[in-house]
Amino acid sequence: MKDKKYEVRRRYDATATHYDKRYFDIQMKKYNEIFSEIDVDNSEIILDVGGGTGLLLDFMENQTSNIFCCDISFKMLKEGKNKHKANHFICADSDHLPFKENRFNKIICVSVIQNVPDPQITLQEIYSSLRCEGIIILTALTKLFSDTKIKEMMHKARFSILKLWQLTIEDISVIAKKNEG
Ligand SMILES: C[S@@+](CC[C@H](N)C(=O)[O-])C[C@H]1O[C@@H](n2cnc3c(N)ncnc32)[C@H](O)[C@@H]1O
Repeated sequence: MKDKKYEVRRRYDATATHYDKRYFDIQMKKYNEIFSEIDVDNSEIILDVGGGTGLLLDFMENQTSNIFCCDISFKMLKEGKNKHKANHFICADSDHLPFKENRFNKIICVSVIQNVPDPQITLQEIYSSLRCEGIIILTALTKLFSDTKIKEMMHKARFSILKLWQLTIEDISVIAKKNEG
């Protein structure tokens, strides 16, 4: 694992027990906005990349059990597993997702991409893990990623952008589709 990833894991391990207290409300607002733009079917299999303490599952309130949460920080996942015992929490690097290709209907990646050394690699990995016609929902910090940069990255990863918008003052959000099998 590269130095940056060790450092990121160390940082999130250290803040895991306080994460929800500090970020619950902020992240819920993001999820609220995002899920007003997309529908989720009960039968869909969803992957939350960099899912941390499972705030997506808090938001979904057990609407669907088919959500897999993966993260590089074991301690963030442990917090999530304590809240959501029935769900799958997997310790994994977003650049090496341990799933079969074409597995997921939707992949969510909220407030993660600023932490990875090469976002393009992460996007390629997400692309492989999505089914054909599968949807990626990603947010990124506007201070690091412009609209143009996000568009370039998504096109390079072969996604078709469905919607790109300013989610909060600090975040840009994109919904895009995988076209090919
Ligand atoms: C700001 S938190 C967001 C957590 C969650 N998505 C949320 O909305 O609350 C960023 C998360 O990304 C994870 N992360 C950072 N780099 C990662 C990587 N290379 N692979 C998997 N997870 C990573 C961190 O451990 C942390 O849990």
